[in-house]
Amino acid sequence: MLNGEKKIQRPLRWGMVGGGRTGQVGYKHRTGAQRDGTYQLVAGAFDLDAERGRDFGINLGVAEDRCYATYQDLIAGEIAREDGVEVVSIATPNFTHYEITKACLEAGLHVICEKPLFFTVAECEEVAKLAEDKGLIVGVTYGFTGHPLVHQMAAMVKKGMLGEIRIVDLQYTHGFNSGDDVGAGEAVKWRTNPETAGPTFVLGDIGTHLYYLSGVVLPHMKIERLLCDRKAFIPTRAPLEDHATVLTHYDNGARGRLWVSSVNAGNMGSQRYRFVGSKASLEWSDAHPDQLIYEVQGEPNRTLHHGMPYLEEESLAIDRMGALHTEGLGDSWANIYLWIAQAIDAKRRGDEAFLKTHHYPGIEAGTEGVRWLENCVRSADAGSAWVDYQ
Ligand code: NAI
Repeated sequence: MLNGEKKIQRPLRWGMVGGGRTGQVGYKHRTGAQRDGTYQLVAGAFDLDAERGRDFGINLGVAEDRCYATYQDLIAGEIAREDGVEVVSIATPNFTHYEITKACLEAGLHVICEKPLFFTVAECEEVAKLAEDKGLIVGVTYGFTGHPLVHQMAAMVKKGMLGEIRIVDLQYTHGFNSGDDVGAGEAVKWRTNPETAGPTFVLGDIGTHLYYLSGVVLPHMKIERLLCDRKAFIPTRAPLEDHATVLTHYDNGARGRLWVSSVNAGNMGSQRYRFVGSKASLEWSDAHPDQLIYEVQGEPNRTLHHGMPYLEEESLAIDRMGALHTEGLGDSWANIYLWIAQAIDAKRRGDEAFLKTHHYPGIEAGTEGVRWLENCVRSADAGSAWVDYQ
């Protein structure tokens, strides 16, 4: 169980780019980073609106002279200080991730970047090499993958409790974009424009969560081929999609079905994962993240609750609240930030042995998300054709 005790030698000096007052995801980063005292927020370029960003930073407790107008100013200002930031989180629209990540790495700073990481696999590979050459960590924030019940599912699959995996059924849908985009806010505008969102809308925005989390549960399974069908129900969003379905063939013969949509009108179900094996199935949803449905063929169905002693050690070790008390998204983000902090700390100490076995969502996790998107787009653009996974 995690209880806030020190896990690294000293807190990391931390800065943020984006995630300002009006940003959707910024607070999740701060919730995750500041939970265990592993990061101290000491600088930021929080907002495209420099004045609003400065005021916001001051309200967060950041010194006025360390609330910068741009990320370039942040890097220049911070590397000139002896007590400058060591790691920067990037919580800005997709099209800025690549240039800001590169600039931070070139300046010798570790990075924690939002998904989808970049627009192309080529960019990911170039930046992975840069990080490697510089001896720096790039973490990627797939929000719910730090939840103890996600790791319970992984442990049960690993123990063979489901038997051979046959069916992978994934869904992440909501209805917030059911209407048109007339008068839409900034977060919708940049998400529906290929120049700012990249080659996808909902596939990258929410589908990458499904892809990454299912990979955490099923690390032994690789995709062999897929078929992606995507559509913009609101025509102004084309060529980007507000709805997509993906059929998947895995290398063990399993079949996958994935549905992402932001036009599932009225739906608040969000993420749902079902893993079906030859003996049993697991189902988990972020609508009820404390509960894991375990169904063994021929037996009464069971609901497993987080924090209970009957769970696997992999799950109990990362539980924070204990059974009976809600364990949710904020706790999951705290785990992700802690794992990335431990990776940065190990890098700083030159502890490569620790890094070899340490689980955290790193640049490979970001790269594989982008690779999955490239395959989905290739399939969709070929007329929703089956394509071999590359
Ligand atoms: P948003 O549009 O709500 O907020 C973006 C923030 O970044 C704003 O504060 C804006 O002023 C600031 N900003 C934009 N360009 C900037 C620049 N060049 N320098 C400094 N600040 C800048 O966007 P949202 O929804 O917060 O998404 C941001 C990123 O986070 C996206 O890549 C998105 O895919 C990802 N995201 C991830 C989630 C997760 O669960 N991991 C959840 C929501 C978003």
